[in-house]
Amino acid sequence: MIQTLEWTPHGVVFIDQTKLPTEEVYVTCTTHQQVADVIRNMVVRGAPAIGVAAAMGIALGVKNSKAETLADLKKEFDQICETIRQTRPTAVNLFWAIRRMTEKFESLRIRPIAQIQQALIEESQRMHAEDIAANQAMGRHGATLMPSSGGVLTHCNAGALATAGYGTALGVIRAAVEQGKKIHVYADETRPFLQGSRLTAWELMKDGIPTTVISDNMAGAMMQQGKIGAIVVGADRIAANGDVANKIGTYTVAVLAKEHGIPFYVAAPISTVDLETPDGSKIPIEQRPAREVTHIAGKQMVPDGVQVENPAFDVTPAKYVAAIITERGIARAPYVESLRKLSEAST
Ligand code: MRU
Repeated sequence: MIQTLEWTPHGVVFIDQTKLPTEEVYVTCTTHQQVADVIRNMVVRGAPAIGVAAAMGIALGVKNSKAETLADLKKEFDQICETIRQTRPTAVNLFWAIRRMTEKFESLRIRPIAQIQQALIEESQRMHAEDIAANQAMGRHGATLMPSSGGVLTHCNAGALATAGYGTALGVIRAAVEQGKKIHVYADETRPFLQGSRLTAWELMKDGIPTTVISDNMAGAMMQQGKIGAIVVGADRIAANGDVANKIGTYTVAVLAKEHGIPFYVAAPISTVDLETPDGSKIPIEQRPAREVTHIAGKQMVPDGVQVENPAFDVTPAKYVAAIITERGIARAPYVESLRKLSEAST
């Protein structure tokens, strides 16, 4: 099984996703600042994985604290959370994780410091385990929507590497394959960071799931040729009305899907649903360095001085989304109602 991130006695260990698929290298973080750096630099990426990394980073920071009073520990706790908060703005799982760790901290404030430290470590490990269970449940629900055979297109990497394990969109595909469905995955390469060709293809190869990598501009032609029966992607944040922020290029795929009558599904845990954000226009979109666009594997591909844009995510309006697959069941339009109902339901 792929270990995306793990709490160990030596620190939090991450598989370095910037080195895949050619090198399988692991990095160990022993401070919360290092965890913030690995989130920012995309050593770990993908909304649910970022959430669990944030929780483990906070637990690590509190574990390292030399505070002798609860008041001092609280001050440090707030600083640690702030460092983690400043890493990436779009995936709401990061903020969800900070809130959950803060609630845990607040509930423990009369306890001895050593107990608080231990309880926060355990909380972050619980979040890790819950994420895997959520993905498996999403897989069970979502597999029913997958065709019994044929092509399924995905964009970016919403797999084991983007989560604590199993994956959201790839979890749905994995579950469908486990049920005997004969799925062939079309993986968009996902410029500029190449999460599709580097990470999705790597994961699926390991599992023996047939996969074809296409460059992003080939997706329309594949749909036109009848090679794609369904599309499933992950999400970084889902607004209350069902608008979906996901990797840049997702919107293009969704519009093309509509034109070709292909169902476009989103798989994401309830922690990705942000009921406080009414619609997609209010979702902050991360702008990443121009170099990710101008250079490929260190080689310059764009003339010096040319202007470049590099928004890491786009927003797909809810009208293009056939269903949102969560661990608590499948939401359909009108999403304002279905997402609220699932968010309020217990697991
Ligand atoms: O910039 P990234 O690689 O963190 O973006 C990841 C995505 O857009 C994923 O599709 C999303 O986080 C869902 S992961 C289960």
